[in-house]
Amino acid sequence: MTALPSDLPSPAAPTAAASRRTFAIISHPDAGKTTLTEKLLFFAGAIHLAGHVKAHGERRRTQSDWMEIERARGISISSSVMTFERDGLTFNLLDTPGHQDFSEDTYRTLTAVDSAIMVIDAAKGIESQTRKLFEVCRLRDIPIITFINKIDREGLDPFALLDEIESTLALDVCPITWPVGMGTDFRGAYDLRENRFLKSESKPGAADGRTIPCSGIDDPQLDALVPERILASFRESAALALSAYPEFDLASYRGGHLTPVLFGSALKDCGVEELLRALGRIAPPPRPQPAEPRTVAPEEKAVTGFVFKMQANMDPNHRDRVAFMRLCSGRLKRGMKLRQVHSGKTITLQNPIFFFARERQLADEALPGDIIGIPNHGTLRVGDTLTEGEELRFTGIPNFAPEILRRVRLDDPMRAKQLKRALEDLAEEGVTQVFRPILGSQWIVGVVGQLQLEVLASRIATEYKIAMGFEMAPFEMARWVASDDPAVLKDFIERNRGSMAEDRDEAPVFLARDSWELNRTIRDWPKLRFLTTRERH
Ligand code: G4P
Repeated sequence: MTALPSDLPSPAAPTAAASRRTFAIISHPDAGKTTLTEKLLFFAGAIHLAGHVKAHGERRRTQSDWMEIERARGISISSSVMTFERDGLTFNLLDTPGHQDFSEDTYRTLTAVDSAIMVIDAAKGIESQTRKLFEVCRLRDIPIITFINKIDREGLDPFALLDEIESTLALDVCPITWPVGMGTDFRGAYDLRENRFLKSESKPGAADGRTIPCSGIDDPQLDALVPERILASFRESAALALSAYPEFDLASYRGGHLTPVLFGSALKDCGVEELLRALGRIAPPPRPQPAEPRTVAPEEKAVTGFVFKMQANMDPNHRDRVAFMRLCSGRLKRGMKLRQVHSGKTITLQNPIFFFARERQLADEALPGDIIGIPNHGTLRVGDTLTEGEELRFTGIPNFAPEILRRVRLDDPMRAKQLKRALEDLAEEGVTQVFRPILGSQWIVGVVGQLQLEVLASRIATEYKIAMGFEMAPFEMARWVASDDPAVLKDFIERNRGSMAEDRDEAPVFLARDSWELNRTIRDWPKLRFLTTRERH
């Protein structure tokens, strides 16, 4: 086995785009994402105290330094981006909301990363949310490093876990670290690539003296450190793992076909440092980004970026919002003027927010791969491309056909205008989609999960003070309708006025009562396309 290749940039060029690692962690709730995030920040030296995870139902947060920036600026953003540095590299960790309900926000966040870490609970294997998020990564060929967490607890057999990844996700696997005992037998993990024993340590944060260089899995040093029975079983399974799986192949990983796998325990600090090292060495730096009419390379001089997320200020007295932009090329400086391509408007970056750790919050430039927050009053929208003037549109930031449709019931008709504003604001943030039926005046909202409806109702009540409720809609499904033949589309809309609506961008949407009606309509109108996603332009 050879060590992982090193892609570390030369110290002479520490600020080049190649020094960025922009990634997300994908997992099922409870697999340990929050714990791992905190430990990554801790090992990178970005936070000094482990054990600061706050768990308040859905609003779990990791105590990291970006919160200082929020406080200093008097704004509130959920933990969307965490930036930290190590070994001359800058890591941008983008949070994907961890709740059961799948939100569009999560999909869109994955459009802004170059790689992902997939966290799997060793006792549970691949769970539903992980699988869904994985599918999104696959659509974009996002390379994935797998971290099988909680090996300090009783878990499934390591080979069974690897088999599951191979068979259900159709990914090749390549173990990097291997458990030395699991559950009550847990003694640590072994780095198969660099031959090091990663001793378990019950004292959190005590990293010193825990990594023991070895000559191989048969190194006699191990006999003194690990009880015989546990060691014998480790040696047997590790030898099998070494012979059964292929060498690590960088191109295969970067192409999204192979996942390196680390077994570890975020709680017991085992394997986390190795994960960070692997991320630095093999995870891709910013990649060229697909755009119309041309792909944009990170090395290009002119600044370009796209907005993948909006966050309204949690303070109901202010209507400010923050647009999260991923920088795709150029060197962005505070005060710069950028063009919002779809409107032609000029946006001055007076107060861009940098999500650096405390001591770096005054950094005044950003590089490709970095995420900046742009405070604005509703000018910017998800999907927007910003450039120094070029007519360019980044592609692939999708809207998804909602799975739940509801009519909005307004209790006080005098508040219709405010309701419109609230729905449009929240649609812009990606909390919901709104559809306005061609006939009738009641708005229809669409969400991909029940929780989104609850969030929507509570935000309309608390932030906009509007008394409203949701009613069942006579429709179950929504599809964007498109055609190469405008006359056919027009004819379809005319004949189906009772089932037609428009989205926020006035794109036509067909609302079907059920799947039977949808399928029949698809059959009857072969010249139309009924789409489950619509890319924003
Ligand atoms: P999430 O963000 O993916 O939802 O997971 P989170 O980190 O909150 O972890 C979920 C639970 O799993 C937490 O326990 C956490 O302590 C535990 N956990 C995370 N990593 C490990 C690990 O490596 N080993 C073990 N044994 N447990 C781990 P909890 O009881 O729900 O919360 P808490 O009271 O410990 O905070």
